[in-house]
Amino acid sequence: MGRLDGKVALVTAAAGGIAGASARRFAAEGASVLVCDIDLDGAERTVADIVAAGGTARARHCDVADPESTEGAVEAAIDAFGTIQILMNGAAAREPVANVVDLPLAEWERAMRINLTGIFLMCKYGIPKIAAAGGGSVINVASQLGSVVVPNRPAYVTSKAAVIQLSRSMALDFAKDNVRVNSLSPGATETGRLLEHYDTMEDVRRALVPLHPIGRLGQPEDLADAALFLASDESAFVTGHDLIVDGGYTAV
Ligand SMILES: NC(=O)c1ccc[n+]([C@@H]2O[C@H](COP(=O)([O-])OP(=O)(O)OC[C@H]3O[C@@H](n4cnc5c(N)ncnc54)[C@H](O)[C@@H]3O)[C@@H](O)[C@H]2O)c1
Repeated sequence: MGRLDGKVALVTAAAGGIAGASARRFAAEGASVLVCDIDLDGAERTVADIVAAGGTARARHCDVADPESTEGAVEAAIDAFGTIQILMNGAAAREPVANVVDLPLAEWERAMRINLTGIFLMCKYGIPKIAAAGGGSVINVASQLGSVVVPNRPAYVTSKAAVIQLSRSMALDFAKDNVRVNSLSPGATETGRLLEHYDTMEDVRRALVPLHPIGRLGQPEDLADAALFLASDESAFVTGHDLIVDGGYTAV
């Protein structure tokens, strides 16, 4: 018996590390998964993994910054699987490391559009379907940098703090519909994102492991475990919560 038997999940950014591991985990626990990403080839690779493991999934191109694309993804999940009970929003932009004076307005707006408005759009179209299904769980991937900051990442840290507040706001508004909304805040996790500013994962570890008291970086599967908890009925009394999974980064 899987922990998500009979449920349908829509996961954005599921070609990527954290959302991809979560999509695989949801499927392994019995959910049918619509694997969405702007990178359709990557989404299809995630689907292939799921199907090879005996699960059920379909791939869908979706740009979370685009209202038509997000609405289309929600409709595609309904067409494919009849309903949605779980919505996981994992997309984030990669933006230059720069302070407010140096960061181009277009990069600020792009980060806000993908990181924050993307969640607004997916929830705008997804929540009514989850409510119509009798309720379910929305998981918005924020960051430990939604609670604390690092230098020269104004768009990222601000958008992630806003994701935590947007999640609380929606938790309040849709509790009456049995729709739970939580944010999930990773610490540094070994995915392609971290290689943006370092040459190798070894360089990343040398720089960032000392900031994580637990003595290692996160693995995508660490976050998938936490996402599974938030997706499943085991978290039935959890809403409006920011679940920080950061190896102690923010405890220091
Ligand atoms: N890896 C970390 O250290 C870390 C730490 C804290 C928070 N996070 C958050 O976790 C989430 C997942 O990050 P990851 O580390 O797995 O990154 P990743 O780069 O492995 O995956 C990100 C995915 O997002 C997709 N994407 C980008 N723009 C998109 C758009 N407009 N529409 C749809 N998909 C889009 C990319 O194609 C990619 O597949 C992000 O929200 C990120 O901010 C990551």
